[in-house]
Amino acid sequence: MNAHFPPTFLWGAATAAAQVEGAAHLDGKEDSIWDVFARTPLAVAGGDTPEVAADHYHRMPQDVAMMRDLGLQSYRFSTSWARVRPGDREPNPKGLDFYDRLVDELLGAGILPWLTLYHWDLPQAVQDLGGWANRDTAERFARYAEDVFGALGDRVTHWTTFNEPLCSSLIGYVGGEHAPGLNDPRAGLAALHHQHLAHGMATRRLRELRDDLSIGITLNLTNAVPFDPADPADVDAARRLDGLWNRMYLDPVLLGSYPDDVLADLAGLGFEEVVREGDLAVIHQPIDFLGVNHYHDDCFSAHPAPASDPVLPVPTPKANRSWFVGSEHVSCPSRGLPRTAMGWEVNPDGLRVLLLALSEEYPDLPPLYITENGAAYDDVLVDGAVDDVQRWDYISAHLDAVAAAMAEGADVRGYFVWSLLDNFEWAWGYAKRFGIVHVDYDTQVRTPKLSARNYAALIALSAETG
Ligand code: NOJ
Repeated sequence: MNAHFPPTFLWGAATAAAQVEGAAHLDGKEDSIWDVFARTPLAVAGGDTPEVAADHYHRMPQDVAMMRDLGLQSYRFSTSWARVRPGDREPNPKGLDFYDRLVDELLGAGILPWLTLYHWDLPQAVQDLGGWANRDTAERFARYAEDVFGALGDRVTHWTTFNEPLCSSLIGYVGGEHAPGLNDPRAGLAALHHQHLAHGMATRRLRELRDDLSIGITLNLTNAVPFDPADPADVDAARRLDGLWNRMYLDPVLLGSYPDDVLADLAGLGFEEVVREGDLAVIHQPIDFLGVNHYHDDCFSAHPAPASDPVLPVPTPKANRSWFVGSEHVSCPSRGLPRTAMGWEVNPDGLRVLLLALSEEYPDLPPLYITENGAAYDDVLVDGAVDDVQRWDYISAHLDAVAAAMAEGADVRGYFVWSLLDNFEWAWGYAKRFGIVHVDYDTQVRTPKLSARNYAALIALSAETG
């Protein structure tokens, strides 16, 4: 890695409650939609569940000590709504106490807490009322945000409302790959809008409670690339994807509108009836940062992929993304790039391109943080060590791309590697490892991988030299 970053650049690592905590039914926590979904046959690879995960709930002090030893400056974690307000009843003091202790532990270690309110684990009791397809869930979310603020708002300054709402709305309610595992476009589009509304309502509420907070949202953004830029059908497939995956999330938050071309694509699905007068003004709140999660580009062709292309892995038979591209025939033909264990293309320059495109297309863009970037590989523990050279190559090449984008004018203020720990990778269960720290799920022993040691060295060097 050649890049240099300013001394103020924030270095961190990220996790999410349902992926690392475990203790899924302890101290008052009740089912989230992911607990229920994971118990559904064929929903999660290997029948894995978040019940124990990386047992972070019990190992939190040691995990924070490890973060301190790695020199992390910030830790991005999420609070579990189903732990804070189980069953949609009153707040759970024991659940809030866990996060209270986590925040104190982090601050004691000199690590900035970077809190996400929603990383996909809706209480099942709220799903039973219609989940995100029900408009009332937005108000419930704002109330939950107040609960969390009540416990932590004196010490936590950095708040993210949602993580990757694409995944918890369209991919959960239409794609079937994530909880609640539906294939219902109308419900998915309602969920999309209600999550935006919830973002706006919670942002307002938090600002009323404390006016010096830094509040933002994290979106998963991709470059939707036509396989053949000269083929209008490929170009249109990429446009549709860019609309549904990027602009339907960026535009309401940053511009206060939904993109017209996507509204036209969605005609007849009831979306415009869900959007009430005044909603977009609530959604379009000033934000202090935009979190960008980026792993790979998406290249689309309107034609079937050549038979010679490698068959890409899918987590379970429930995963079906054909609705997004508007046709069963759209494919992602191989561009000959290397791929990670997820089957995702490795193309670091895509991150530079994405950051610059954002900066150009959204004139009032707030500062950017890379809130997730990283890779799954089939790690092997040999003699107590994991030499994950490929993961470090991936991370360092992406950091070079961030630095290049900054040199060309993108205002990027920090980077969080995904993930601190190997964890419950949603529909893939424990089969895919993203951690810079290896977790032995039988013993819960943590082993920092080569990538963790290199990341620690980079942070130390960057703090010294800038
Ligand atoms: C994005 C999600 O926010 C995170 O939960 C997930 O594990 C990573 N991507 C890797 O798929």
